[in-house]
Amino acid sequence: MSHLKEKLEEIEDRVRTIGVLTSGGDAPGMNAAIRAVVRAAIGKGLKVRGIRRGFHGLLKEEIIDMTTRDVSDIIQRGGTILQTARCKSMLTREGQQNAAAICKKYGIDGLVVIGGDGSFMGAKAISNFGVNTVSIPGTIDLDIACSDYTIGFDTAVNTAMEAIDKIRDTSTSHERCSIIEVMGRGAGYIALWCGIANGAEHIIVPEIHDFDEKEMIADIMAQKMRGKKNYIIINAEGIGDSINMSHRIEEATGIETRATILGHMQRGGSPTCKDRVYASIMGSMAVDVLVQGKTNRVMAYQGAQYIDLDINEALEMKKNISDYQYDVAKMLST
Ligand code: F6P
Repeated sequence: MSHLKEKLEEIEDRVRTIGVLTSGGDAPGMNAAIRAVVRAAIGKGLKVRGIRRGFHGLLKEEIIDMTTRDVSDIIQRGGTILQTARCKSMLTREGQQNAAAICKKYGIDGLVVIGGDGSFMGAKAISNFGVNTVSIPGTIDLDIACSDYTIGFDTAVNTAMEAIDKIRDTSTSHERCSIIEVMGRGAGYIALWCGIANGAEHIIVPEIHDFDEKEMIADIMAQKMRGKKNYIIINAEGIGDSINMSHRIEEATGIETRATILGHMQRGGSPTCKDRVYASIMGSMAVDVLVQGKTNRVMAYQGAQYIDLDINEALEMKKNISDYQYDVAKMLST
């Protein structure tokens, strides 16, 4: 192959327009990632198109040009300025093919997808239809196996921790037992971290299968006999049933028990410094990855390093709550 032909092919292959979308549940810090993608790409002489409402908006061609000024004053804001959605059509081959065709129609030859592992599957499918993609882990649940960090977890866990501190104040005044249900879908990371940070008496997470409610009630009774006056139980959403559980505890122990489901407040609010910084670095690196001509990649944070991984490799990884951390939480609560 001649040098000139090689050069021409290299120019042909080069990413010129980057699309960016947020998908699945929103997470504080997504705006910092969008800002970084837009500014890093424009700084490299690329065009940027923002896609509203995730893959759903992509299929409806809700695509806008983005400039550096469009992302001013957003790094400190929760939510996502591009908005987000969950999209069933992306589970079908037809939807995936259409999504890739729409990217091509708008000249999007590199796509940054910010979301959870469901969104990664969408990115992977689009990549298979010829559009280069890189995904960034964005979820408050911390349940992306390939990464020790996901955008939004730090803010969400701090929001939950502060709320639980407040609940402890009133729980102590009234000598009550309080069950607080935190988000996390099938994962117990928010529950575990709050359990340690709030000094909860009990943590219930879906990953630990030998949880026994009767044992917990017996423990509350034993502590009551020793003069303990209030109890905080942090229950992960993946277990749920907090309101019924509060009735069962009250009935069995005679201690007034209240349940609070923290809900979507955990997904909102101004991102912490960590979420702003990590999201900015991942957003900027995602652009670098696309500029290098790579596709089907996932950004990750592992062992204090930001890296990019093959999406198939990333999706095959598994992670679980550390037994040691769970045991520490249990031991320190006594
Ligand atoms: O994945 C983030 C998350 O907030 C989970 O913790 C929770 O299970 C889910 O999204 C709630 O989703 P929705 O906002 O669609 O009710």
